[in-house]
Amino acid sequence: MLRFEDCLALCGLTEDEVQAIAQHEHVPEIAAVEFGNYLVQTPDGELLINAMIRDDIDEGAKTYKEVCTQCHTAKVRPLDKKQLTKEQWRQAVAKMVDLGAEVPKDKIPALLDYLASTHGPAGAAGGDGKK
Ligand code: HEC
Repeated sequence: MLRFEDCLALCGLTEDEVQAIAQHEHVPEIAAVEFGNYLVQTPDGELLINAMIRDDIDEGAKTYKEVCTQCHTAKVRPLDKKQLTKEQWRQAVAKMVDLGAEVPKDKIPALLDYLASTHGPAGAAGGDGKK
């Protein structure tokens, strides 16, 4: 049986792409690999995957606006200058949830994609960091 990592390597998708597909289609990652694998072989597949990643980041931006800006604004505990890796953002968000931030669990992956792509480490202008 193929393991998830093997599938990833085989179909040439990045983990972020797979997560975006899983998130967008509401399917488990293993199904997302299969779907992504199919998509990349279609003429518009890459475009579609990119659109899903954009949707995913947009959804994360929405969660950010709805949740994080309750306590973080440009003036109060500003986050716009923060540059963290996805893992660091994951830890920060977990800490915020402990502090009482109400982040729906299923919104966290998109939120992290948004944060990592717009507020990632300096220099590592990940993906389409502008927007
Ligand atoms: C209920 C209010 C509240 C909400 C909602 C909230 N935060 Fe915070 N956040 C805080 C407070 C208070 C601190 C300072 C806590 C500390 O330093 O221990 C903080 C600190 C942080 C830090 C710095 C943490 C560190 O260890 O340096 C980051 C990054 C952060 N928040 C990100 C977020 C993100 C992303 C969200 C949205 C998911 C969010 N926060 C939502 C109150 C909030």
